[in-house]
Amino acid sequence: MMTSRMVLGASFIALAAAFVPAAAKVTASSEPATAYTPSVEHGAYMVKTKGCHDCHTPWVMGPKGPAPDMTRALTGHPADLKMPAPPELPPGPWVWVAAGTNTAFAGPWGVSFTANLTPDKETGLGDWTEEMFIKTMRTGLHQGKGRPVLPPMPWSVYGQLTDNDLKDLFAYLQSLEPVHNRVPAPIDPSEARQ
Ligand code: HEC
Repeated sequence: MMTSRMVLGASFIALAAAFVPAAAKVTASSEPATAYTPSVEHGAYMVKTKGCHDCHTPWVMGPKGPAPDMTRALTGHPADLKMPAPPELPPGPWVWVAAGTNTAFAGPWGVSFTANLTPDKETGLGDWTEEMFIKTMRTGLHQGKGRPVLPPMPWSVYGQLTDNDLKDLFAYLQSLEPVHNRVPAPIDPSEARQ
């Protein structure tokens, strides 16, 4: 027969067991900044292999066809390239168009322009925190809390990288020379053809 003392003893053990890991977790998560030192070198590798230059570095026609202009690496859609209204597409399976620079895109979401990923404070990621960067990739919201990030930014792909990979990526971007290039704001579908 179970006495009330045994029940009390058992529930105390359960309570203690429930508390120990929770307490351990609190200590661990209160010092995330010291837990991991991001690797700029691995971040550079990530940028090279995850396609960021495809859209965030303007493409130009070279001797072997179009190629990213590395003198403007990761600076986003060039501010001096004013895009005309996107062409009207006939009904059918073609639904979106891209600029030759691969930095401006028009589709059912309106017009999107790739962001300046250099750490310029006014026009790039200079005032972003690591947390904002990670949250953007995880949620698909601007800085992890604002408007939805538009296509074709593949945030849901990058959102599946580990925290440490994303920290490395961000550390590399922040190590770049800041370049002032104010990318235009996206254009709403209702205004895109005006
Ligand atoms: C297929 C094209 C494409 C690729 C590849 C791409 N991006 Fe983007 N990215 C975009 C577009 C377009 C925007 C602007 C979206 C908008 O204005 O909502 C953007 C916006 C961003 C933003 C700003 C989001 C915000 O909250 O304002 C960040 C940061 C970013 N990209 C980082 C990256 C990184 C890092 C990589 C490589 C790992 C990458 N992108 C690869 C197209 C791309």
